[in-house]
Amino acid sequence: MSRILILGSNGLLGQSLQKQFAAQGQIFNASVEKASYITDLDIPYYKVDLTKRKEVRELLLTVKPDIIINAAAYTNVDGCEEEKEQCWAVNVKTVENILEVPFEKNPLLVHISTDYVFDGERGDYREVDEPNPRGNYARSKLAAENIIRNSHMEYIIARTQILYGAGIGIKSSFVNWLVLSLQAGRHVQVVTDQIGNPTYAPDLAEAIDRLIDKEAYGLFHVSGPEALSRYAFALIIADVFELDKDLIEPVSSSGFQQKAPRPGNSSFVLDKLYNNIQWLPHTVRDALDLLKKEMKQDA
Ligand SMILES: NC(=O)c1ccc[n+]([C@@H]2O[C@H](COP(=O)([O-])OP(=O)(O)OC[C@H]3O[C@@H](n4cnc5c(N)ncnc54)[C@H](OP(=O)(O)O)[C@@H]3O)[C@@H](O)[C@H]2O)c1
Repeated sequence: MSRILILGSNGLLGQSLQKQFAAQGQIFNASVEKASYITDLDIPYYKVDLTKRKEVRELLLTVKPDIIINAAAYTNVDGCEEEKEQCWAVNVKTVENILEVPFEKNPLLVHISTDYVFDGERGDYREVDEPNPRGNYARSKLAAENIIRNSHMEYIIARTQILYGAGIGIKSSFVNWLVLSLQAGRHVQVVTDQIGNPTYAPDLAEAIDRLIDKEAYGLFHVSGPEALSRYAFALIIADVFELDKDLIEPVSSSGFQQKAPRPGNSSFVLDKLYNNIQWLPHTVRDALDLLKKEMKQDA
């Protein structure tokens, strides 16, 4: 039975990973907050600052995981422009800290990366395509990927994008923001010229599980199956949640001042994922239906 350690367990993906893996192996959670946000799964929780070498060493030598899933990150893309050091500490130093631990037996390292490693000039990116990160967040995530790929560790790097899902105390995602805004009757502007594959967090957790199961190691693009503009995505969200589409105004991103650059079209090709695990994630509409049910249950 594998010992699985989830780093960043309180985050959006971390919580989906807990639910995905709860019934398998022996699960351990670790994140920077005082306690686990999910309490009913009864998974042991370790409070850890992953930027601190000593804390990481202690945690990993105590838990002795067979599999580490690193879902922890500094995910505020604009914040990374202002707090470059902290961004680099969480996104890069954490990985260095893990790799420096003198394990008796090396664990499998599953690490989550991002479509932002691409400049978004073209879209339909495959794993073999050359990254060209813009902005500190994107550069930090690519740096971590490269460190892992050049290490001695067996790894799965899952690049994902536009994550959404339900969770306790999680940061607001595009879906949450839109639903809350439309429910409040607020008019919103949504860009038509940023294209990507929205990804339901439980799908990403399931894909990770299947990759581990198949021993499919290496770099994978893992996202929802459809490439959509944010505006097209917003219209589907409004439809599924039965909210007023007329409140959504299509705009160009040139009218928005954002600190970090955003890729224009960073859509993924999922062939490698499919060829390895013979599985595809839910369509956006199906995933949003599931999310709606989940949100009703939690309410
Ligand atoms: N969300 C997206 O749209 C998206 C898109 C592409 C890729 N990704 C990648 O997917 C992964 C999961 O993202 P997510 O959206 O689930 O992130 P998230 O909700 O922000 O969760 C990240 C978790 O890591 C924790 N953390 C931060 N600094 C830490 C530290 N020093 N020590 C220990 N834990 C720390 C965070 O705690 P605090 O909240 O207290 O800081 C949080 O619980 C990340 O690698 C991210 O880069 C996400």
